[in-house]
Amino acid sequence: MLVLGIETSCDDTGVALYDGARGVLLSHALYSQTALHAPYGGVVPELASRDHIRRVLPLTDGILKESGCVLGDIEAIGYTAGPGLAGALLVGASVAHGLGYALGVPALGIHHLEGHLLAPLMVAPAPQFPFIALLVSGGHTQLMRVAGVGDYQLLGETLDDAAGEAFDKTAQLLGLGYPGGPAIAALADKGVPGHFELPRPMLHSGNLDLSFSGLKTAVALQIRAHTLDERMQANIAAEFQAAIVDVLIAKSLAALKLTGLRQLVVAGGVGANSALRAGLTRAALALHAEVFYPAPEFCTDNGAMIAHAAALRFRDPSLAATTRSGFAIKPRWPLSEANLRP
Ligand code: KG4
Ligand code: ZN
Repeated sequence: MLVLGIETSCDDTGVALYDGARGVLLSHALYSQTALHAPYGGVVPELASRDHIRRVLPLTDGILKESGCVLGDIEAIGYTAGPGLAGALLVGASVAHGLGYALGVPALGIHHLEGHLLAPLMVAPAPQFPFIALLVSGGHTQLMRVAGVGDYQLLGETLDDAAGEAFDKTAQLLGLGYPGGPAIAALADKGVPGHFELPRPMLHSGNLDLSFSGLKTAVALQIRAHTLDERMQANIAAEFQAAIVDVLIAKSLAALKLTGLRQLVVAGGVGANSALRAGLTRAALALHAEVFYPAPEFCTDNGAMIAHAAALRFRDPSLAATTRSGFAIKPRWPLSEANLRP
């Protein structure tokens, strides 16, 4: 089944064509709005929606041409129905349902985080269900037990800021602009952790919950207390990144120990962070556990993960009835509500 995927939940317009029968990604394209929002220090929702409108159809034409397909070859459409910015989601939902109606094919609303969670299954070697997923994006930080498509159990989550949000806010404090994650990671490479001492929040909380807003406040206090030259800024970035990485590693290992599972999947934009990748892989070895990462381009928002998640839902006949959706967007949508099996 040839599935067109459309992602427009925030500031990236992503489209992809995924061949569900062969399990092959035929083509995908992404237009990042980073430059559009950069002058404002964050995403401006109205600008995001308008730009999705401009990009989504030309991008779709492009991937059809690239893969040698025509509109009539599309057999199903998956679009991000939530969570995300309402206006931005509406663009993807409208195009998906309009196209679906015209072509006579189903359009299915996909949970954005499900797209991220299942993305590592797109490439070999793929993890086997059940596995633990560390979901670290700009809006979410969660540890999940993933037993199958639509079978997600929340084990722990951030009580305040998401990990990506902490990167973005700290980058702003350091005057690095938006988005903060890649900028802090690059600056951290030039610095040394430990020169400034930052807390490892909730490290010993005894559960799998996390918290990052205190870390950002601790950075703000350090910035206020010192006049920072470039080297000191790099040292703060390095210590900040080390603090987040330490906590994410500790909680991920605790989730593996608690469940007895030995496969960990890392998903979401912060999963592109190379210090996190290196640290997790090293720490997991000691537990004889394996860590799976999507390619960095599929860690951050993209259309491929949405086409892929939709293909998995369409493929399983037992899910067919529950996955048929009308026109819907859900700007706030807990992943537990996208569960298909009780
Ligand atoms: O998954 P994603 O693309 O969008 C959301 O669904 O939120 O994640 C975006 C987040 C941003 O907060 C960005 O700063 C962060 O991922 N990010 C990174 C890196 N690349 C992106 N954080 C740390 N290190 C990176 N290399
Ligand atoms: Zn995302």
